[in-house]
Amino acid sequence: MATAISTPNIAFIKYWGNRKNTLRIPVADSLSMTLSEPSVEITIDHADTLKIQSSTIGEEREIAGKHLDRFQKVIDLAKEYLGTLGMADALPGELSIRIDSHIPPAVGLASSAAVFSCLARAIAALITEEKVLTDEQVSIIARLGSGSAARSVMGGFVALRAGEGESIDAAKAVQIADEHHWLLHDIVVIPSREEKKVGSTEGHALAATSPYFAARIEAITTRRQQECIDAILRKDFEKLQHMSEEDALDMHHVMETSNPPLKYLSQETHHIVGEVKALRETKHLPVLFTMDAGPTVHLVCTDEAAEEVRAFASAQKGCTIFESQVGPGARVKE
Ligand code: PMV
Repeated sequence: MATAISTPNIAFIKYWGNRKNTLRIPVADSLSMTLSEPSVEITIDHADTLKIQSSTIGEEREIAGKHLDRFQKVIDLAKEYLGTLGMADALPGELSIRIDSHIPPAVGLASSAAVFSCLARAIAALITEEKVLTDEQVSIIARLGSGSAARSVMGGFVALRAGEGESIDAAKAVQIADEHHWLLHDIVVIPSREEKKVGSTEGHALAATSPYFAARIEAITTRRQQECIDAILRKDFEKLQHMSEEDALDMHHVMETSNPPLKYLSQETHHIVGEVKALRETKHLPVLFTMDAGPTVHLVCTDEAAEEVRAFASAQKGCTIFESQVGPGARVKE
């Protein structure tokens, strides 16, 4: 039996589009900050058949249908990957999985990143007597469930490197700086709690249909990712703000021009972004905005700006607010 705990992350350079969809191998690198909360806890054990019990903020449900299929696929691929490391039989035939999630549903905090990084860490803990996996190896297992989950395996600031080729281990995460490097906050403004209509798995498959996809990949590959890494290492907030806002808006442009188009941002999102820009003009606050596949606005700021950003967020009418900061990533629970 093994138990792990993990959290979502918020990307500064977004992952959108795969080179190989079945293995979730991204076209380009991405970069994020692992969050301190909300957390997910997963316990896995040997079983006769795959069985998943899940509780989200106290609400119990048994995972079935396409959700169960996704887990089955991840476990089969994890076995395939462990086979390439000479450990084809390290994992038991079947697993029982117990998921305890503290992530409020449909708020724009990536629960799949937390869940699959947590599952990967628990799998590594279960087979630890046979072999101790490196964090990079654990990130490969996490990526098989959700690309962005690879980044939550580690704490602090983490890049997912797209690598080359189509082998199962082609893309992996690397830590750029740990969680003690720079205290940044993520103050999350949630305008709507509707479930999104098109999930990211389907979205990735549409990315390349946008006429702007190739230019975005070129921008990330030739400058944005590296400039963002440099900004983090130098704690240059202004640079981080420019790069991450440019990339977030660029990703949404690609989404909105894909075929069929995907529109995740709402009027409320645009309103909040406009207000943040105005706040920045008047108060010169180190705060940046970024949005994933939904209308939720993440306001990432330094410790010195946190109080004012918190007050700004609370003043947004009809919005739910959630607060987190940079965190340590997926870990084993003793
Ligand atoms: O890991 P996925 O397949 O849920 O994709 C995540 C996509 C974004 O959240 C939109 C961007 C990112 O890099 O987190």
